[in-house]
Amino acid sequence: SNLDENNTLLQGKTITITAGPTQEALDPVRYISNHSSGKMGYALAIAAKQLGATVNIISGPVNLSTPEDINRINVSSAREMQQAALELASQSDIFIGCAAVADYRAADIQTQKIKKQGDEITLTLVKNPDVIASVADLTKNRPFTVGFAAETQNVAQYAQGKLKNKNLNMICANDVSQPGLGFNSHRNALTLYWYDKSGKDMQLNLPENTKQALAIEIIKTIANACF
Ligand code: CTP
Ligand code: CA
Repeated sequence: SNLDENNTLLQGKTITITAGPTQEALDPVRYISNHSSGKMGYALAIAAKQLGATVNIISGPVNLSTPEDINRINVSSAREMQQAALELASQSDIFIGCAAVADYRAADIQTQKIKKQGDEITLTLVKNPDVIASVADLTKNRPFTVGFAAETQNVAQYAQGKLKNKNLNMICANDVSQPGLGFNSHRNALTLYWYDKSGKDMQLNLPENTKQALAIEIIKTIANACF
């Protein structure tokens, strides 16, 4: 039956997914982060498990319980996430970068709490490594690599730019300017862009739905595109 086929679509395959925000420490009590809830990444992990995969989730700090039979690796900073990602990616058939990785971190993490000073304070930030680009650049055992793009404008153009520049196989574009969708919501709407096995440009519009329903569609589209 259809259900049996779906439940075995990813049998014998390993998927690694990054999820949630990263936290970049400023001092022992403060950090820079963002509003990512981790819900989309966790929904993808559950969907991949339902379709028969072995699933690793590399998780930033989130308020979500670990789904059953999923290997969860907790990380805090972008650099910790990159280290875990590079360790697991080459053992994975598919890598999905769903995390909202902080683009910058403090140039120096203070070992003591920063004291209140004058009326202005300047923080010096330095660029974090690009986790998914480093996975996509693996030359040995490179997984099929899927990114997300959160955009507030020029969604298709920016997303397709990331697909190309980061050397990804697929990108899931997210218009985060739509009220009630994306960050911190249970619902989302996405457009997937990828290259098929012959290198042809492909596109799939997934209209507004729950993140769990979208996750099933994304995982099925990935499976059909890469196996
Ligand atoms: N990403 C990553 N490491 C980073 C930044 C982003 O792995 N340091 C990944 C995200 O997990 C996502 C994709 O790259 O899969 C796109 O993230 P996004 O923030 O939309 O793109 P950026 O390249 O950071 O560009 P910008 O924030 O300027 O739009
Ligand atoms: Ca970014």
